Amino acid sequence: IPQPPDILSPGFAADPYPAYRILREHYPLLHHKGIDSYLISRYEDVERAFREPVFTSDNYDWQIEPAHGGRTLPQMSGHEHSVRRALVAPAFRGRELRETFLPVIERNARELIDAFRDAPETDLVARFATRFPVNVIVDMLGLDRADHDRFHGWYAAVVAFLSNLAQDPDVAAAGRRAGEELAGYLRPIIRQRRAAPGGDLLSRLCTAEIDGIRMTDRDITAFVSLLLAAGGETTDKAIGLIFRHLLAHPAQLAAVRADRSLVPAALAETLRYTPPVQMIMRQPAADVTLSGGTVPAGATVTCLIGAANRDEHRYARPDSFDLFRTDLTPSHAFSAAADHVAFGLGRHFCVGALLARAEVETAVNQLLDAFPAMAFADGIEPADAGVFTRGPQELRVRLAAGAG
Ligand code: HEM
Repeated sequence: IPQPPDILSPGFAADPYPAYRILREHYPLLHHKGIDSYLISRYEDVERAFREPVFTSDNYDWQIEPAHGGRTLPQMSGHEHSVRRALVAPAFRGRELRETFLPVIERNARELIDAFRDAPETDLVARFATRFPVNVIVDMLGLDRADHDRFHGWYAAVVAFLSNLAQDPDVAAAGRRAGEELAGYLRPIIRQRRAAPGGDLLSRLCTAEIDGIRMTDRDITAFVSLLLAAGGETTDKAIGLIFRHLLAHPAQLAAVRADRSLVPAALAETLRYTPPVQMIMRQPAADVTLSGGTVPAGATVTCLIGAANRDEHRYARPDSFDLFRTDLTPSHAFSAAADHVAFGLGRHFCVGALLARAEVETAVNQLLDAFPAMAFADGIEPADAGVFTRGPQELRVRLAAGAG
């Protein structure tokens, strides 16, 4: 039997998937002393942890509340959660997404691409993926487009605060300062929108009301901060990943180029194969028994999404990227019966999943249209980095045939 893998080791950071296999097979429930949490890796266990109410998200009180300066959806439960979620969810689906926000998404993709349309080469992560989702959120909120760069600064500081595993005091201070600046920037605008609401997302947050409940200024500033972190880094990584996989699999890339109705399948397979959010924590309110043993009440459980999505009992050839696989139905990817766990499951299922899908599909379609000969820049395949969230840090591509 192999040694239990350590999710804080450099080998794990370089490639977590062999470790995930060992965990699923030999250590389906493993207490990690370093992070004092029980790791779970099998699809059936991760699915239970997302769906069963005994697995609370009370751990988020200490994990993410300080980052956003207020309580936000991930840490809420019961009636508080369902009402707060219902206040914001309509903006991220259906007619509002299609008619109000899809044009915003398309415009932002086009503008970013225009900046390197004639270049022989670019870094798709730096020049496109990291900027696109934040620009979209700023525009959805109806804020000044001239402030895109300021939002990138705040976004970077909040994300650094959230991933500050080493507890660096400078990073923590910068994160808190960014949060205060963002709240200070928003407060007068919130006042204006309450008085004269428009069709933008910030006006919706200011005026939406259910059961007499409305969002306070603090709820709104915390939610905007959450949107930057939850909707920025994740979608950024999904875009880098889908291009990394398609460029590494030329036959699948050619199929997608020829038939764009395959883009949703390519995205679903990207999110299964390499989920941008690799792990999510829960805190059971009572003792619970999973494969491999019992987790005591009050402990934390780390749901290894990246491991569950490669479970050989759930998927055929789990370690192959194959957008034609039949055990993953993209049309179901956003229902409660999702075919992978990259967006979570159950009551905290990603509220931005359809927005993310619209953003990635738009990005893929526009970039493929603009660059018919796109390929890896120097023939070297880029790699992913990160432990909690994971994706390519850089993706240098050749844009024009014969260039580079
Ligand atoms: C929740 C992943 C894009 C907003 C979640 C969760 C996951 C996730 C795993 C569940 C967290 C939990 O159960 O504790 C992703 C991935 C994305 C993405 C992989 C991109 C590919 C977005 C976007 C937005 C967004 C674009 C909005 C702009 C949220 C919010 C929640 C959430 C607000 C909390 C929902 C709740 O607690 O009820 N996301 N997300 N996400 N996501 Fe996403």
